[in-house]
Formats: sequence, structure tokens, C-alpha cells
Amino acid sequence: MSRISYINGSYVHHYKAYVHIEDRGNQFADGVYEVIPVRQSNLIDFKPHLDRLNRNLKKLKIKFNYSGKALYFIFNRLIYLNKIKNGIIYLQISRGTAQRDHAFPEYIEPNFFITARNKKINNKLIEEGVSVITTKDLRWKRCDIKTISLLPNVLAKQEAIDKNAFEALLIGSDEIINEGSSSNFWIVKGNKIFTGPLSAKVLPGIVREVLINIINKEKIDFIEEKFTLQEAIDSNEAMITNSSTVITPVVKINDKVIGNGMPGPITIKLHQLIEKNIIEQIVK
Ligand code: PDD
Repeated sequence: MSRISYINGSYVHHYKAYVHIEDRGNQFADGVYEVIPVRQSNLIDFKPHLDRLNRNLKKLKIKFNYSGKALYFIFNRLIYLNKIKNGIIYLQISRGTAQRDHAFPEYIEPNFFITARNKKINNKLIEEGVSVITTKDLRWKRCDIKTISLLPNVLAKQEAIDKNAFEALLIGSDEIINEGSSSNFWIVKGNKIFTGPLSAKVLPGIVREVLINIINKEKIDFIEEKFTLQEAIDSNEAMITNSSTVITPVVKINDKVIGNGMPGPITIKLHQLIEKNIIEQIVK
């Protein structure tokens, strides 16, 4: 079966899907992206992903004129054409192609492409948890925008991999843990769940948003508050969230064991609740 992607209005063979060398995404990282989960061939949390995409396009003044309905149709077509069961849809929109000039060109059409791929669900992650490291947050001052400018994130993640860890937590100059290189970060102290408040240092994650709604609905103790590395090390449980692995328990930070070194009861409960929420979105 050949893999099919979508680029600027056409479905094409994945290995023949190109953007121009003067795409501003290539030259300036002038673009945004989304990663949307697929479960049992269904898009999960499409609406909040679309809303975040539209907010980010607006923030960067990129004029993209595909409707949510059109994107929904294309995503589902790619799921069908590529036989995606569990996996992700990746969407990238750049300002477009133009002769290199820092200022926005006057007449420019965005370039956009969408890929779909299968990704195995790794139950070991939830059963055993993962180790993470910490590293300095070297990113710019608008981390709330989901731009394709990810070099500090890439370097942080590679540092984690080189140290046999799953993720790198990004520590600000104020000693606060902002988030992971590709995830939001949470801790549990006693019965209370904590994650940092939204700010320019944190990406407003969709799993974060969905999980907060669930936590509030279930009336679980929750506080949006900043915390330091030491507070995380002293916590009872920790976890990271994102659209590719949903909830992943963290059992070690820089080789220091969190709680009893196993995923804790609150993390497991949240995992069950968010899985239930995913199942409810799957069309029977
Ligand atoms: N990243 N923080 C950062 C820096 C991220 O890159 C991500 C997701 C998140 C979580 O966002 P969400 O819950 O919407 O996935 C937080 C995606 C998965 C990626 O870059 O591949």
C-alpha cells in the first residue's frame, strides 16, 4: 500500500510531496502546526485542535482560507487512504513561498500539507512510567504559539534520548518547570493535582485542556500553579501529557525516584478517565 499525503489542494504519494525551496517555513520557520490523535480510525478532539490552529494563524497573521469542515474531510480521507487505525495526523501551514525577505510579502498564499501515520500504543509507558531529565529552557518568549520553530525543543529531546530518558523538562531562569520539550508537565502532591498556569512559557496543550475539564467535572482537587524542580522531585506522582501519548506517568526525574517509583493511583485514574473520554468520541 502506498502512503498518501495532502499538499496544497492535492492528494499525492508521500514521497512526492514537496514544498518549494523558498517556502518561508523552510527559511524562517514562519508557520504553525498541529498534531491530532487518531483512535480506531477516528479523529480525537478535532474541535479544540482546530480552534487552537485558528488562534495561532491569527497571532501570526497567516491568512489560511480552508474551513474546519474542509480540514475535517481531508483528515478523514487520509485516515481512510492510509488505513490509519491508531496514529496521528500532522498538519503544517507556512506563510507561503516568496523570494527571501524577512518582511511579509504582500501577495502570498500559505503552503500547507497534511500527513497521516500509524503509531502503536505502547502500554508499557502507562504500566511502568518513564524517566525524564531537566534542561535549560532556551526557547523564545512566545511558547504559547504552536510554531514550527522547534530547534530548542529538538535539542532538549535529543539530550533526553542521549541520557536514556523519555522527555526533557524545560526549566526557566526562575527555576520553574515550564513544560516538556513536547509535552505539558503535571505533579500530584497528596490528593492535589498541579500544572503550571497558561503563559507565554507554556503551550496550551489540548490534552491539558481536555484533562482540566475532566478533573473539574469529577471534582478532583486541582490547582494551576507554578512549581520548581525540587517541588516536583518531592511530589507523590508526576506525569506528562500530549496528543501522541496522551498521559505518560513520570517515575524518575534526573535519576531521582518520584513516589514509590511506579505510576501512582491518581495518574492511573486520570488515564482511565481520559481514555473513557476518547472512547466516547469513537463512532460505533
Ligand atoms: N507537541 N508542549 C509542547 C512544547 C508541545 O510540543 C506539545 C505537543 C504539548 C502538548 O500539546 P497537546 O496536548 O496539544 O499535544 C505541550 C506535539 C505532540 C508535537 O510537537 O509532536
